Amino acid sequence: MADGKTIRHLPGDRRPDTRAMIRVDQAGEYGAARIYAGQLAVMGGRHKMAGEIRHMAAQEQRHLDGMDRVMRERGVRPTIFGPLWHVAGHALGAATALIGPKAAMACTEAVETIIDQHYGEQTEALADGSDPELKAMIDDYRADEVEHRDAAAAHTGTTAHPVLQAVVRAGCRAAIAVAKRI
Ligand SMILES: [Fe+2]
Ligand SMILES: [Fe+2]
Repeated sequence: MADGKTIRHLPGDRRPDTRAMIRVDQAGEYGAARIYAGQLAVMGGRHKMAGEIRHMAAQEQRHLDGMDRVMRERGVRPTIFGPLWHVAGHALGAATALIGPKAAMACTEAVETIIDQHYGEQTEALADGSDPELKAMIDDYRADEVEHRDAAAAHTGTTAHPVLQAVVRAGCRAAIAVAKRI
């Protein structure tokens, strides 16, 4: 273990596992960027919601750039499922946009609800002051995710597409659980 980067986070260690956090967050921001790209690929520039989605997509790109940067600086290995998020994120965005703009927004609301909860758990874990840089990024990005969630909810209403939202929420939770580990 000459290289400090290879030291694993051991069970019983109370410090937050920030390397796992960065891996899952980078995967999530990557997936989010792909979802919005998929929506825009279907809706094009003409739809009245396209401007709003482009704004969200630009914010996801900023989040992704930030996570890519800390990942590089700290030598964190990315999730092995990058190619899957590349395809699955885009497919989810495109498929929901094909159902219709309200379904696309219902998808966004479901995704961002889970991301807000996820970032909320992380920022609570980092309240111990162990990683101020990462905590500041998460708090910053989380504010955007909440904005996305609320903007989407304003379009879709709370009762449209409950099954789709349940499936998307479950998928996001599963993706987070996987990306934490591998
Ligand atoms: Fe994001
Ligand atoms: Fe977002």
